[in-house]
Amino acid sequence: MCGIVGYRGHNDAIKKTINCLEKLEYRGYDSAGIAYISLNDIIIKKEKGRIKNLKDNLNFDEQSNIAIAHTRWATHGESNQINAHPHNVGHITLVHNGIIENYLELKEELIVNGYDFVSETDTEVACAYIDYLYSKNNNKIEVINSISKYFKGSYALGILFDDELDSIYATRLDSPLIVGIKDDEYFIASDVPAILEYTDKYILIDNKEVVHINDSCTIYNNLNVVNKEINTFEFNIENNGKGNYEHYMLKEINEQPNIIYYLLNKYINNLEELPDLSKYNRIDIIGCGSAYHTGLIGKSLFEGYANTEVNCYVASEYRYQTNFYTDNTLIIFISQSGETADTLACLRKVKEKNIDTLAIVNAVGSSIAREADNVIYIEAGPEIAVATTKAYTAQITILALLAIKKSNTNIDTLITDINNIKDTISSLINDIDYVSIAEEIYKRDDIFFIGRLIDYAIALEGSLKLKEISYINSSTYPAGELKHGTISLIDEGTPVISIITDENIKDKTVSNVKEVKARGAISILVTNLDGMDDIIDNIIKVPKVNKFLQPIITIIPLQLLSYFVARKRGCDIDKPRNLAKSVTVE
Ligand code: F6R
Repeated sequence: MCGIVGYRGHNDAIKKTINCLEKLEYRGYDSAGIAYISLNDIIIKKEKGRIKNLKDNLNFDEQSNIAIAHTRWATHGESNQINAHPHNVGHITLVHNGIIENYLELKEELIVNGYDFVSETDTEVACAYIDYLYSKNNNKIEVINSISKYFKGSYALGILFDDELDSIYATRLDSPLIVGIKDDEYFIASDVPAILEYTDKYILIDNKEVVHINDSCTIYNNLNVVNKEINTFEFNIENNGKGNYEHYMLKEINEQPNIIYYLLNKYINNLEELPDLSKYNRIDIIGCGSAYHTGLIGKSLFEGYANTEVNCYVASEYRYQTNFYTDNTLIIFISQSGETADTLACLRKVKEKNIDTLAIVNAVGSSIAREADNVIYIEAGPEIAVATTKAYTAQITILALLAIKKSNTNIDTLITDINNIKDTISSLINDIDYVSIAEEIYKRDDIFFIGRLIDYAIALEGSLKLKEISYINSSTYPAGELKHGTISLIDEGTPVISIITDENIKDKTVSNVKEVKARGAISILVTNLDGMDDIIDNIIKVPKVNKFLQPIITIIPLQLLSYFVARKRGCDIDKPRNLAKSVTVE
C-alpha cells in the first residue's frame, strides 16, 4: 500500500503534488507528508492522519518546482508524525511504497557504520542505506541501480539528493511506478489516475529501472539509457466526486445498474470478443478478499452450468502451496486494483510454469493486467470507497458471461432479464427499507450469515462488507455446518442472515434456519423464492432472474444493509479503520 508522487516543473509543485497525492489516498491514510525544494533547501512537512491534516499545514503560495509526497498505510511502526514519510538521512530524502524485508539486517550494518535512527520504519533504513552507498560511490545512477542487490522485498522510491536540488530520482521493484509527462513537466506516481488531472501521457517503469528527472527525463535499465514507449491513457475514469451522495460507497452502489447493463450488453451478442475457454477442462481462480469471493461465484456458475471444474484459492495461501496443474488448465486472476501483492506473486509463480493466465481487472495498465497472457477489463471506473461494491458485481458479470459462453447457453433465455437489469437493480437499491432492518441489528456484537453453494459465496461477501465498514463481528457458514459446533453461539436475539436463491436446496437451508430460530435467533432472509413465512422475522425479497444473473443482483441488498448499519453506527464508511484500497504488501 502507500502512495507516492513526485513533480518537477513549474512553481506550483506543492499544489500539484498534493492534488495528485489526494488521488492516491485510497492506498493508505494513516499519515501524509511532502518534501519540496524552496530557496535551495529541502523542506519536509508531515502529519499524522489524512492528507487534509497535511494540507492544513502547507502554504500553497510558497514557490517550489520540485516535490515528492507520500500517503501511508502503516506497516513498520505506528501511525505518527515520526514514522511518516518523507524520511531524510544524510544526503537523501525519500518516499517509499513497499516493504524492505531485510531492514533489520541492514539497520545493524548501518549502526555499526555510525548511523542513528529516529523512526521505527523500514523506509528510514532504506534511506540511510542509500546514503551509505552514496558515501562510497558518488554516481547516483549507479547507487540507485545497485540497491536491488541489498534490499529484499518491494519498493517504489521517489528520491531527492541534497546536492542536486533540481532533480528527482525514482526506481521500483515489485511496487508500481509510472512517470507522467506534460511538455516540460514531469510526474512520478504509484498509478496513472493520480496524474490525470494534468496529463494522460505516461511511461510504465519496469522493475529495477532508474528514473532521473531534471529538465528532461532519462530512464536507465541496468545503467543503459532506454527509450520507453509513451502511452496515452484512453479510458474514461472520470471521478466527479461524491455528487449528491453522502458517501462514495453509496454512489458506487448506485452506479451498478449502468455498469452491469453496459457489460452484459457489450458482450452478450459478441461473446466471441471474450476469450475462448473451450479447451480448458479445469479453471483455477485466484484472488484476495472480495475478489476471492467473486471466484467462488464463478465456481458455482462454471461447475453448475458449464460442466467445468473450478478451484478457488486465496492468493496469500496459493503462493506458498504445492500447486497441481493438469493439461488444459486456465488460471484466472481477479483484482480490482491489479496491484494486490499476493495475487501478483501468484501470477508470476504460475507464469513460470507456462500455464495460461487470464486477468479480470479494473485498473487499466496495472501490473496484473500487464503481466497476464490475457486481460478483460471490468470497466467499472475508479472505485474510491475502500469496500468494493461495483467492482465486485462487475467481476461477477464478467465471470457469468464467460460461463454463459463456455456452457453454450442459448442467449435468448437471458435477453429479457438483461434488458430489465437496470430497473431490477435500481428497484433493489431504492424500494427496500434497509434503514429499519439496520435499526434492528446495528447494536449487535455478533451477526451470522448462512447459505449453501452459490448462496454461501454471496453470504461470505455480505458478511465481509458488514465487518469492514461497521466493525460488527460477523461469521459466515455453509448452512449445514452450524450444527457441527458454531450453533452454540446462537442465543436470544442473535441476527442470522440467510441467503436462499437456489430452489434445489431451499428446503435444506430452511431446516437450518428453523434450527437457529428455535434457539432464539432473529431470522433475516434474503431470497427470490416464496413460501417460507414460518422462518422469517425480516425478509428482503430479490427478483428471480436467470441463474447466471441471479448472484449479481442478490448481493445488492447486503451491500446496502451493511452501508446503513455502518451509517447508524457513525463509522467512517469510505475509509474504514486499518484498511486501504490497494494491498501492495504481502
Ligand atoms: C473488500 C475489498 C477487499 C479486496 C481485496 C483484493 O471490500 O475490497 O477484500 O477485494 O483486497 O483487492 P483487489 O481486488 O484490488 O486485488
